[in-house]
Amino acid sequence: MSLTDMDVHLDPSSLVTQMAQEVRAGLSTRPLTLPPKYFYDAHGSDLFDQITRLEEYYPTRTERSILEERVAEIAEVTGAETLVELGSGTSEKTRLLLSTLREAGTLTRFVPFDVDPAILTLASEQVAAEFPGLVVQPVVGDFERHLGKLPRGPRRLLAFLGSTIGNLDPDQRAVLLRDVRGTLGEGDFFLLGTDLVKSPERLVAAYDDALGVTAAFNKNVLTVLDRELDADFDLDTFQHVAVWNEADEWIEMRLRSTEAQRVHVRGLEIEVELARGEEIRTEISAKFRREGVTAELAGAGLELTHWWTDPAGDFALSLSRPT
Ligand code: SAH
Ligand code: AVI
Repeated sequence: MSLTDMDVHLDPSSLVTQMAQEVRAGLSTRPLTLPPKYFYDAHGSDLFDQITRLEEYYPTRTERSILEERVAEIAEVTGAETLVELGSGTSEKTRLLLSTLREAGTLTRFVPFDVDPAILTLASEQVAAEFPGLVVQPVVGDFERHLGKLPRGPRRLLAFLGSTIGNLDPDQRAVLLRDVRGTLGEGDFFLLGTDLVKSPERLVAAYDDALGVTAAFNKNVLTVLDRELDADFDLDTFQHVAVWNEADEWIEMRLRSTEAQRVHVRGLEIEVELARGEEIRTEISAKFRREGVTAELAGAGLELTHWWTDPAGDFALSLSRPT
């Protein structure tokens, strides 16, 4: 097994310092917001994994079907020696890329990159055991801050799957794509998964499933704040809400306070007054169109070379390279 020590750019104490700054900012102005990256402790990552298997949550299985169809072409075009995966989570779909690139004889190294050390450790150990001889070099970090620290090397394929890019707003996406461009050299490629605009009914159902797994995932951010910032959010006084924002073409997940209440975040020495019915926005999940993705990539200095969708046009995978 060739699993290297984890490269840590975000140790537990800097994660809490960063969380403190971002949570303070999000809870000090109206409308109240919380950053989605804090869903993902070990429990949140497990809940997300359950979401990916829900009937209503089509993105994961659809992206996997596109990958199955196109992976040989991706391997041929990129000839990747290193596969870097941002927001890698379980790296479940990534196995398709890993096995095809290994069979093609080009891939020597896999660099999964995630903010949650728990899922990163588990996935890295499993991948290292499944792919003997492959160097697995996990990195704990925040893709909004640490892309400059990614290991270098020739013929790198940087994959950002699952439409996680949609959890960033347009300004954050522009910064991330510029950082991606900054880390890519000649011969490198960027493989991006983007969920596409479709009927609001299907979108809302995907973010408000009948079993309540997404509701539990949404509320998990409050558990994380209670634990890490000594807050006293009572999960039973918040209701999961998913709405389609037509103007911005994104789903918003919110937590609605079912009563007037005062929440204490003792670690930040702040109190937050919530009116009955007041909401905290916890996530946006943008849905894309081809023109928008092409333009955002181009704005960062990336040229789209391939665009693949499933037959229904629900999800897209794109390949781009530095111009
Ligand atoms: N790529 C997987 C997992 C998507 S879930 C898939 O397609 O199914 C989103 C993943 O991104 C989680 O594992 C989460 O921990 C990670 N993540 C979220 N915000 C992050 C950030 N700012 N930096 C690094 N990883 C992040
Ligand atoms: C990780 N990310 C792309 C998921 C999404 O669909 O926006 C997170 C998620 N939120 C609710 N369900 C899944």
